[in-house]
Amino acid sequence: MQIILMGPPGAGKGTQAEKLTQSLAVPHISTGDMFRKALKEETELGKKAKSFMDQGKLVPDEVTIGIVKERLAEPDCNKGFLLDGFPRTVPQADALKKILVELDMGLDAVINITVLREILIERLTGRRVCKACGATYHVIFNPSKDDGSCEKCGGELYQRNDDKFETVGNRLDVYEDQTAPLINYYRAQGLLLEVDGTQSMEKVLTDILMVLGRE
Ligand code: AP5
Ligand code: MG
Ligand code: ZN
Repeated sequence: MQIILMGPPGAGKGTQAEKLTQSLAVPHISTGDMFRKALKEETELGKKAKSFMDQGKLVPDEVTIGIVKERLAEPDCNKGFLLDGFPRTVPQADALKKILVELDMGLDAVINITVLREILIERLTGRRVCKACGATYHVIFNPSKDDGSCEKCGGELYQRNDDKFETVGNRLDVYEDQTAPLINYYRAQGLLLEVDGTQSMEKVLTDILMVLGRE
């Protein structure tokens, strides 16, 4: 399966991808995770991305497109892929189209997870992430059973820099402005499948598998 997971910040793309990557047996490719890894390792890419991410702005297209192109060319993507957080602009979507042709790959579906803005703010400001394994929690909606540390690996939980209240509004505006137009872009190509992201995490997963014809 060759799939894009779309939706505003906090819609649950990462949460669902953690589960889908297992049931569909395809790699999870999150540009946000790739940037955060680069930031942690203080690579050139990390240095380039940092100021944009901290302000809730998008990293420039040429940087982002380059890393996705490299990643999709890796052998594990022959089985398919689950793109999370890419594409996020029309030029990125156009570039992806070209990359997929070059690599002799296709696109089966674009799943758009929809959630209203007020709910997104609550989800983002309450999110906590494991420093070691990247697992995602929420202080109210999905707390770790091991208070303050990751129940999967014992790692320390932290709040993403861009999940501070001051930055969250900006990220949602950037989404409306630059990413939301992709909904019609993919609808026009007959690839868009919509799922209500305000339901429980389990129900959202069932719905995604259902629209994909996997349930
Ligand atoms: P990225 O990491 O992709 O962040 P994002 O798109 O803002 O999305 P999030 O990861 O915040 O949300 P999510 O949908 O994954 O939600 P989650 O599952 O965690 O990007 C970060 C930055 O990197 C960007 O701002 C940009 O600077 C840069 N970047 C990345 N890609 C780029 C690109 N293509 N081009 C340019 N720049 C790029 O869930 C959120 C919370 O809600 C969690 O706490 C979770 O536990 C909870 N939750 C999830 N589902 C439910 C549910 N059903 N009910 C209740 N709570 C739930
Ligand atoms: Mg995410
Ligand atoms: Zn962990």
